[in-house]
Amino acid sequence: MTHSPADGTEPAAPPFATLPPLTSARLPELAPRIKEAWLRHPVLVFHQCELTPADLVEFGALFGTPVPVPTQEDIVDTTGLPPEVMIISNIVEDGRRVGHLGGGELGWHTDMCYVSEPALASALHAIETPEAHGDTWFLDMSAVFDRLPAALRERTAALSCKHDDSRTAAGDLRYGRDPVLDITTSSGAVHPFVRVRPESGRKALYLGRRLNSYVPGLPLAESEALLDELWGYCEDPALSWPHRWQPGDLVVWDNRVMMHRRDAIPDGSRRLMRRIQVR
Ligand code: SIN
Repeated sequence: MTHSPADGTEPAAPPFATLPPLTSARLPELAPRIKEAWLRHPVLVFHQCELTPADLVEFGALFGTPVPVPTQEDIVDTTGLPPEVMIISNIVEDGRRVGHLGGGELGWHTDMCYVSEPALASALHAIETPEAHGDTWFLDMSAVFDRLPAALRERTAALSCKHDDSRTAAGDLRYGRDPVLDITTSSGAVHPFVRVRPESGRKALYLGRRLNSYVPGLPLAESEALLDELWGYCEDPALSWPHRWQPGDLVVWDNRVMMHRRDAIPDGSRRLMRRIQVR
């Protein structure tokens, strides 16, 4: 799982580490090991976890401050869910959604890039999973940054990107929002293109999402050309890895340096995950 950047810089460390199964009882005992693994790996994988939604919040607190979910009013049943746990699901019961983000493919994105203080980490705990569908993929944005030619690295280091806040990761308009007509003036948080993971000191390219992104200060055509060029480096299949879910799996990843995407979930199959995000 290591890669050798074309420009001779150090190869990327494997982004995944697999840790022992987690239960409510084992969480406190394994916390130091989890924190230690996080220093070296921006993606941690656990199998056969038996965690309640409240345990998931406790798990999230190992990495930062769990963020309350803005609204789940249209979701079938949130009884017993702590405010920080969001249901991600394609299941529809009696015409109402059980969770968010549906069953379509989700393109590469970073969680909460469109707010001024984005999620540092996100975690998904699989409750129901379809056989061999709905994989979540992770893209190492430190390795992508390492692959940029030196001049492009220098250019992006001096620039920021505006991240559209009008649409979800599924591309749907958020409640009450109108479609964006002019991306040079539309709303969204502005973040530097280059971020450093404090745990490793490695730089990473922070792209967020392609749709409606804009580089403030550049003419629109120049912004589009730069973004297309940068996103082009994300297409290298050697820099991304899938996670194929089993019920009980738990994956936590560092949003500052990893992007993620999801394969589509076929109609008729059921997938239900609990998600937490931390700042
Ligand atoms: C997400 O992008 O937060 C959800 C990813 C997934 O459903 O695998």
